[in-house]
Amino acid sequence: MTNIRVAIDGPAGAGKSTVSREVARQLGFVYLDSGAMYRAVAYAALSTGIALSDADALTGIANEIQIAFDQSVPPTVFLNGSDVTTNIRTPEIGTAASIVSQVPGVRVAMVRQQQSLGAVDSIVMEGRDIGTVVFPDAEIKIYLTASVSERAKRRAGELSAAGQVVNLDDMECQISERDYRDMHRDDSPLCVAAGAWELNTDGISIDDVIAMIVSHVRSRS
Ligand code: DC
Repeated sequence: MTNIRVAIDGPAGAGKSTVSREVARQLGFVYLDSGAMYRAVAYAALSTGIALSDADALTGIANEIQIAFDQSVPPTVFLNGSDVTTNIRTPEIGTAASIVSQVPGVRVAMVRQQQSLGAVDSIVMEGRDIGTVVFPDAEIKIYLTASVSERAKRRAGELSAAGQVVNLDDMECQISERDYRDMHRDDSPLCVAAGAWELNTDGISIDDVIAMIVSHVRSRS
C-alpha cells in the first residue's frame, strides 16, 4: 500500500495538535507536530543567548541541533537528547518560534527533516506550510481554523489546565499578532493550500472535528 500524507495547516490555537494527534492514532499513522520543531529552535537559541534577530546564528543552530520525538502518550520532544516538552509550550516560546520561523535558513533545515520523516510512513503532519511547501502533493490537505476569540479561549484553557496564569485579552492579542506574522512573512506564509478542505471549527466539538477528518481520510484512501 502506498503511504498517505495528511497535511493539516492552520493558525495558532485552531486545535491542530489535539485533532492531528488523535486522527493519526485512529488511522494508525505517524504523527508529527512541525511547530514543535520551530519551538525547539527558538528554545535552543534563547537558552544559548542567540538573538532572535541574528539570522545566520539561527540558521546555524537549526542545522546543528537534534530534534527527536517519542510518540507515546503524551508525546515527548527531545532537544539534543533532553526532554523539552514542557519548556517549549510557553506563550513566550510560541512567539519566539514564530519569529525564528521567518528565517529562510531555519525553514530549509526544518522542511528537509519533515520531508524525510514523511517519506517512510503514512503520516499526519501539522503546521503552517505542510500542504503548501513540505508536501505540496499530499494526498489529503486540511486547513483547520476558528475565530480569534474561540482560539484564545481554547489556548487559555489549555494553559491554565497546565497551571499557567493567563489573561484572555492578552491571549487574543498574542494570537492576532502571531497570525499576522505567520501569514505575512516572505518565506512560506500561512495560507490555504490549493485543494485543501477548509474546516472552520467554531461551535464544533473537537471530537466531531476528529470524526469528520478520519472519515474524510478513509473515504479518500
Ligand atoms: O503550531 P505552533 O503554535 O506550535 O507553531 C509555533 C510557530 O512555529 C508558529 O507561530 C509558526 C511556526 N511554524 C511554521 O512556521 N511552520 C510550521 N510548519 C509550523 C510552525
